[in-house]
Amino acid sequence: MFTATEVEQLGSRGFFTKPAFLGPSLALQVRAEAQRVPMKRAGIRRGHELDDAVRTDEIAWLTAGEATGALAEAVAHFAALMQPLNEAAWLGLRSFDLQLSHYGPGAHYARHRDAFPGQDNRRVTAIVYLNEGWGPQHGGQLRLHVAPPIDLEPTLDRLVIFRSELVEHEVLESKADRWALTAWFSAR
Ligand code: OGA
Ligand code: MN
Repeated sequence: MFTATEVEQLGSRGFFTKPAFLGPSLALQVRAEAQRVPMKRAGIRRGHELDDAVRTDEIAWLTAGEATGALAEAVAHFAALMQPLNEAAWLGLRSFDLQLSHYGPGAHYARHRDAFPGQDNRRVTAIVYLNEGWGPQHGGQLRLHVAPPIDLEPTLDRLVIFRSELVEHEVLESKADRWALTAWFSAR
């Protein structure tokens, strides 16, 4: 599933990325289904307040058991990542939560981490992007604040995996509709 280099990068830099994950046709079907899921503006902190300075995307949580069609197939692909990640990196992952996200034109998410040591047991973030024909003119790059920082284009079917507690990241202002499906793997 993962190459030695990818596993090594997860340890040394905290992330790796692959150009393909679901296959382009499933990724397009997932996007089509995602566009029919009711979404809500994403909040921040425990009270889920809205804060335009922090994030202006909209999200929907998916329940693995309730997903159907292409979304259910995508859930199975994420589930299949857990064992190879555990074998490669001894992360003790046992479950995952899934979220669809949509950034409309102008939306962004300021620099943050997905977990803080001791506060949350999210250990690994895995994101697949659902954007056909995406290019630098569309903005919306995922900026990973590693040394040196790296900007990743959210291109159709690209997979990014990073350590939730370690890698600070942000979504630069999107200039077009930007869709992604994210899994957070936990030890709980
Ligand atoms: C998040 C996030 C990044 C992306 O939802 O926590 O950082 O590229 N998403 O969509
Ligand atoms: Mn994040």
